[in-house]
Amino acid sequence: MRRTALVTGGTRGLGKAIAVALQAGGHQVAVVYHTNTVAAQAFAEATSIPVFQWDVADFEACRAGIAEVEHALGSIDILVNNAGITSDTVLHRMTPDQWWRVINTNLGSMFNMSRNVIEGMRERGFGRIVNISSINGQKGQFGQANYAAAKAGILGFTKALALEGARKNVTVNAVAPGYCDTDMVAAVPKETLQTIIAGIPVGRLGTPADIGRVVAFLADDDAGFITGATFEVNGGQYMD
Ligand code: CAA
Repeated sequence: MRRTALVTGGTRGLGKAIAVALQAGGHQVAVVYHTNTVAAQAFAEATSIPVFQWDVADFEACRAGIAEVEHALGSIDILVNNAGITSDTVLHRMTPDQWWRVINTNLGSMFNMSRNVIEGMRERGFGRIVNISSINGQKGQFGQANYAAAKAGILGFTKALALEGARKNVTVNAVAPGYCDTDMVAAVPKETLQTIIAGIPVGRLGTPADIGRVVAFLADDDAGFITGATFEVNGGQYMD
C-alpha cells in the first residue's frame, strides 16, 4: 500500500538512499534537512521529493514542521529518524557543547520527532518508525563517547516504544549501520579509516543503498511482526 513517509536528514548520505528506496517502493516521501541548502535543492531536483527545513534537536520546530508536512502531504505513516551528527574527540578534551549537540541531535530528535507523530499513528492503527542507530552505539568507539551514548540510547528508546505501539500496529525498529560510504565517514582521518576498513569482514564500506533497502523492508505493511528489533548492517564487523 502507498504510504506517506518522512525521513530526517534525508537529502544526503544514508537518509538520501533511504528516501529513494521508500520512493522506489511506491511511497509518497518527504525529507527534512537542517543546514545544507545546496544539497537539499540538488536532491529535490533529482528526485522530485519535497524537502522541508528544520532542526530536529528542537521540539517546537519538529511540531511545527510535522504539521506543515502533514498539511501538504497527509498523515505520516512511516517515520525514519535518520538525522545525526558527529563531533569526535576523546572525552578528556570534549566540551559540554560537543556532548549536548550530539546528544540533542542524535537522541533528542527521537523524542522530538516520534512524539509528534505517535498519537496519529495510534489513532489510525498503523505506523512504522525506523530509527538509525550505529555499530558504534553497540560496540563503543574511541573518540565517540557522545555519539556512542546517543546511538546506544536509541536502542532502548526503540524497544520501549515498540512495546507501547505493538497493540496499535505501530512497529518501531532500529537499524545499526556499520561504516558506509558517506560524508560522515569520509571525515574520519585517512589512516584511521584504512584500519577500520581492514577490520570489516566483507572487505568494503557499506553503500547507502545497503541501508536503504533494509529500512524499506522494515517500513513495509507486511513487516508487522517485526518490532523492537535491531538490524545490524555492518559487513560482519560486529555481531551482537
Ligand atoms: N584505539 C586505541 N587507541 C587509539 C584509537 C583506537 N581506536 N584511535 C586512536 N588511538 C590512539 C592513537 O594511537 C594515539 O596514541 P599515541 O598518542 O600513543 O600515538 C592517540 O590515541 C591519539 O590519536 P589521534 O592522533 O588520532 O588523536 P586525535 O585527537 O587527533 O584524534 C580522534 C582522535 C578524533 C578520535 C580520531 O582518532 C578519530 O577521528 N577517530 C575516528 C573515530 C571514528 O571512527 N568515528 C566514526 C565517524 S563515522 C560514524 O560515526 C558513522 C557510524 O555510525 C559508523
